[in-house]
Amino acid sequence: MDKRLSGFLGRYLLGLGGALLLSAMSMGVQAQISGSKHDLTSTGGAGNKVSGTGANGSPEICVFCHTPHASNSNVNAPLWNKAVSSSVLTTYSQTNSSTMDGSVTTGGVSLACLSCHDGSQSMDVLINVPGSGGLSTGARAYGGAGYTWSATADGKIVQSSIANLGVDLTNDHPIQVPYCGGGMTLSGGAGVLTNCADSDFNAPVTMSSNTIAYFDGNSNSKRDKADIQLYSRNSDYFVECGSCHDPHNTSNGTFLRKSNAASAVCLTCHNK
Ligand code: HEC
Ligand code: HEC
Ligand code: HEC
Ligand code: HEC
Repeated sequence: MDKRLSGFLGRYLLGLGGALLLSAMSMGVQAQISGSKHDLTSTGGAGNKVSGTGANGSPEICVFCHTPHASNSNVNAPLWNKAVSSSVLTTYSQTNSSTMDGSVTTGGVSLACLSCHDGSQSMDVLINVPGSGGLSTGARAYGGAGYTWSATADGKIVQSSIANLGVDLTNDHPIQVPYCGGGMTLSGGAGVLTNCADSDFNAPVTMSSNTIAYFDGNSNSKRDKADIQLYSRNSDYFVECGSCHDPHNTSNGTFLRKSNAASAVCLTCHNK
């Protein structure tokens, strides 16, 4: 073969391989949420479709939670495309647990999850619906007309489903609660947070930005999606829904960040 041609072909094939690899990588990311219970599109997913006809049927996965513009900046979740429910939550602090150290402060990124999981808002209540000029007034974006959620007529999470946490969170693992009773300081070596009010917890590490703390599952000194994490708020680190769950990741079932075999999720934090 002509030397220049084979050189060209080699580069072309290398480029093609690279492109295939890249698309395989991006498909890998897609495959995690696509087809899951968080894929509310009319075309994919595991039941629970927000479906519609013609222009109303959204093939977009992210839009039910995120929007590139006009997002809700009143919630600590990135580019959030839903209003936060105004329901008053009954928190774990209000149970009669005699061993609770931290006190719950409502707010934080958990409110994003609860914008569907407290059962008070429909799936198609969005801020910015797909397409030109789609800013919604907060009513059901598609008025229930062209857009319906196959699970329920009102578009809300099925009342009897365990996924409907409701507004009474006393029967759920505490969220919006400071880790280990609060008061951690950076005194356990590079990035290691210690000095908890309750010493029955493992020590997390923090990134230099200090906005998030995490348990470095694979010891690579980076925060990965599989690392259990804590969210910084009010100069403390909080347990939120996203500490244990990654809403995009289906590889461990029930959107857990890591497998809970041998209670590995629980033992990441609790020193038991
Ligand atoms: C069912 C709701 C939901 C859907 C659908 C969803 N997300 Fe998210 N996403 C969230 C929530 C809640 C957070 C914040 C929680 C956290 O910090 O992990 C988040 C955080 C993120 C983040 C920042 C944190 C991280 O994990 O990197 C990115 C980037 C992101 N989403 C991208 C996407 C993209 C792209 C899509 C569509 C393919 C998508 N999301 C679909 C709920 C969703
Ligand atoms: C746009 C609405 C929406 C948001 C926001 C949302 N979810 Fe969901 N989620 C759903 C729906 C719908 C289901 C399926 C409910 C059912 O099966 O009854 C679901 C199911 C789940 C399940 C059960 C999965 C299974 O395999 O049974 C978990 C866990 C979950 N969500 C966690 C979260 C967490 C954590 C967040 C925030 C980080 C979040 N969700 C945000 C709509 C949402
Ligand atoms: C401390 C860790 C932790 C926190 C915080 C947490 N979860 Fe979970 N969640 C789990 C584990 C572990 C499971 C799996 C339980 C099982 O397999 O039955 C689970 C299961 C679920 C399920 C599926 C229940 C079922 O049995 O089908 C939903 C829905 C859910 N979580 C939503 C949430 C939401 C929403 C939040 C925040 C309000 C949240 N979780 C906070 C650990 C947590
Ligand atoms: C991200 C860290 C984290 C993970 C993961 C976690 N927990 Fe917790 N857990 C906490 C914190 C923080 C509290 C609040 C403790 C306090 O303030 O006394 C708590 C509270 C509890 C309580 C109530 C304690 C009391 O005094 O009332 C129980 C029980 C519990 N967790 C069990 C579990 C189980 C079971 C799992 C696994 C499914 C789990 N936790 C996963 C951090 C975590």
